[in-house]
Amino acid sequence: MPDSTIRHVHARRVWDSRGRPTVEAEVTTAGGAVGRAIAPAGASTGSGEAVDRRDGGTAFGGLDVRGALAAIRDEIAPAIAGMDAAGQAALDARLIELDGTANKARLGGNATIAVSMAAAHATAAAHGLPLWRWLAGDGADGPVVMPLPEIQIFGGGAHADARVDLQDFMVVCPGAENFAQALDWTAEVYRAAGALMAAAGKRQGVADEGGWWPVFADNEEAIATLALAIERAGFRAGEQVAIALDVAATQFGRDGAYRLRLDERDYDRGEWAERVAGWVARHPIVSVEDPMAEDDPAGMAQVTAAIGDRALVVGDDFLVTSAARIEAAARDRACTAALIKPNQAGTLTETRAALDAARAAGMRTIVSARSGETEDVTVVHLAVGWQADQLKVGSFARSERMAKWNEALRIEEGLGERARFRAGQIFPGQGRP
Ligand code: PGA
Ligand code: ZN
Repeated sequence: MPDSTIRHVHARRVWDSRGRPTVEAEVTTAGGAVGRAIAPAGASTGSGEAVDRRDGGTAFGGLDVRGALAAIRDEIAPAIAGMDAAGQAALDARLIELDGTANKARLGGNATIAVSMAAAHATAAAHGLPLWRWLAGDGADGPVVMPLPEIQIFGGGAHADARVDLQDFMVVCPGAENFAQALDWTAEVYRAAGALMAAAGKRQGVADEGGWWPVFADNEEAIATLALAIERAGFRAGEQVAIALDVAATQFGRDGAYRLRLDERDYDRGEWAERVAGWVARHPIVSVEDPMAEDDPAGMAQVTAAIGDRALVVGDDFLVTSAARIEAAARDRACTAALIKPNQAGTLTETRAALDAARAAGMRTIVSARSGETEDVTVVHLAVGWQADQLKVGSFARSERMAKWNEALRIEEGLGERARFRAGQIFPGQGRP
């Protein structure tokens, strides 16, 4: 057995895809293996997320991470030196105990997740295995299911200066036979959508995650344009390639009231739930994330009751990768799928617990990156190693996104005959006339 005792933990300030500082952690084992990971950062965050610790003040708009780096150097490194990096649960328990808050506010969730993920990388490296393979354990010797990619075509919401209210207009490829084909098809849809925008004189670059900048008269026009792009690319919309939305309603909803800037309309809970259900009825939509705000479980349950037989209802800000919240949501029938973001939880062990809770409740699972990303590809390995249903990492442009899609291609290729793909079984509407 390789010696995966932690010998050294180093913290480094690096830069993310929005040009903001972020935390990189590097764990070195006694055997000389090195594992490295970078914390991502959200823009449309849920209030229940682990705290992304920032320095405030004037440097870099108050977003510097010197405090989080110091927490790693001065507190975390001495506390975990000598522990076994392979003992992820004990290691993460130590981080949680050391922090002592309910939301990682003291050390910083960006500090804890970078260290937690770096330790996993160090262990995999010590064993000479890719991270996904280490995480999968014995299960990796049989068939391995590749996640279905969920890929943004238009950006919006907090990722595009609220040019449209909805945040992600995405596609999934339920008709694809494997991960690589799902990317091929998405590339064609992305190109077709860009061409449609150019032809309409509306192509103005891309939003934070690489999706086309959303120049539309109202939110539904963006959905209709995406459906058209799917058809222009030569696919049967809703069957081969379908639409997935992230409404990210926490950005414009509060206390059961929803205020759409672009559509210049206010909705109460019931009206807004009906509006969302109307989109699902009129367009080839198979998944809707955060249709209601994080403070509106009744609204989430209302949407799930209305569209749950035709589309997944995904909780992101609403669940914040918390096993307890996922269990409550399952009891309330508030959603049917859980977004799983490691930095919302703050450690890999808590992230895994959230995924297990979702699976135990019969929910679909979607491992997700953030809008502020880097070349770090850990989420891809988590999605494969933990056998999540889907993988969401933004659009089909910009290298912080493409690095992740490309990593999944390498994994699928390496699996060869053992690779499986179950895109056709993920969404509730499939198989209906
Ligand atoms: P965020 O967006 O990383 O800015 O929170 C991603 C999402 O809402 O799914
Ligand atoms: Zn979201």
